[in-house]
Amino acid sequence: MRWLVTGAGGLLGRDTAGLLRARREPVTALDRAALDITDPEAVHAALAAHRPHLVVNCAAYTAVDAAEHDEERALRVNGDGPRLLARACAAHGARLLHVSTDYVFAGDARAPYPEDHRPGPRTAYGRTKLAGERAVLSELPHASAVVRTAWLYGVHGPSFVRTMIRLEASRDTVDVVDDQRGQPTWSADLARTLVRLGPRVGDDVTGVLHATNAGEATWYDLARAVFRQLGADPGRVRPVGGAAFPRPAPRPAYSVLAHGRLRNLGLPAPRDWRAALHEALPAVREETPRETP
Ligand SMILES: NC(=O)c1ccc[n+]([C@@H]2O[C@H](COP(=O)([O-])OP(=O)(O)OC[C@H]3O[C@@H](n4cnc5c(N)ncnc54)[C@H](OP(=O)(O)O)[C@@H]3O)[C@@H](O)[C@H]2O)c1
Repeated sequence: MRWLVTGAGGLLGRDTAGLLRARREPVTALDRAALDITDPEAVHAALAAHRPHLVVNCAAYTAVDAAEHDEERALRVNGDGPRLLARACAAHGARLLHVSTDYVFAGDARAPYPEDHRPGPRTAYGRTKLAGERAVLSELPHASAVVRTAWLYGVHGPSFVRTMIRLEASRDTVDVVDDQRGQPTWSADLARTLVRLGPRVGDDVTGVLHATNAGEATWYDLARAVFRQLGADPGRVRPVGGAAFPRPAPRPAYSVLAHGRLRNLGLPAPRDWRAALHEALPAVREETPRETP
């Protein structure tokens, strides 16, 4: 099976393409310079040239706060881009595995969101990602799937975990939000799930699925876990309310995704976020540049 990964320069795209290469799967990995998913001719040319059986779309406009003032551009990348990819896949007989986000939900639940819960995005980013989901599923209903994830961290790219590693080395105490709850998710675990799902897209894998690490945590819980694993005193992390860090885009108070569809497909249950962090942190730390004094 030939794979094509878009957004291959990003946090998730790099891990997904890297995993496929490590497994000696035929993969074409295109970063934004190699393929702008908002360019219809370039998208068709890429599919014609590489003839993938499956496209994994990891490209996105992910600047959640910037999107509040730049929704048009975010919509081009997160809404129009996936639509173009889906149309090109339809024209070239390829399937599409598209990545989306917990931000399509309102984030005010009290129990994990099942896949079929009604979306209600409260941010520009969430609205544009929901537009992308809908475009993919309507253009290519029988040959696509949407995987929603959340709170990613990994070896590549900026993330909360990398920020905490840097702050642990440079600050005595760190104030961290303790009234927002989600699922810290290691991008390498998500990449493994995408690679398992890929060959089944269009067969028993269609529609929307949730893929995050299991369990739930506040940012405060996650920061303390990082400190503890670094051998630092978790007491140096101090809990504060989200109101202490006002942001242009409101952050969800409760944004936990249920994994019903993964379970029904017989995939291995996602492991707890703590176990994933335990395995991931040495490599993430290794790749996190120290702050220059
Ligand atoms: N990170 C998270 O916590 C998180 C949480 C939930 C869902 N997700 C979803 O997970 C997926 C992967 O996100 P990520 O964390 O890997 O984000 P990322 O590191 O920002 O990667 C996204 C990549 O897409 C590229 N890109 C932007 N515009 C493009 C365009 N027009 N054409 C082609 N590529 C373009 C970016 O390139 P440039 O850097 O050059 O702009 C970047 O390399 C996205 O769908 C995102 O919505 C992420």
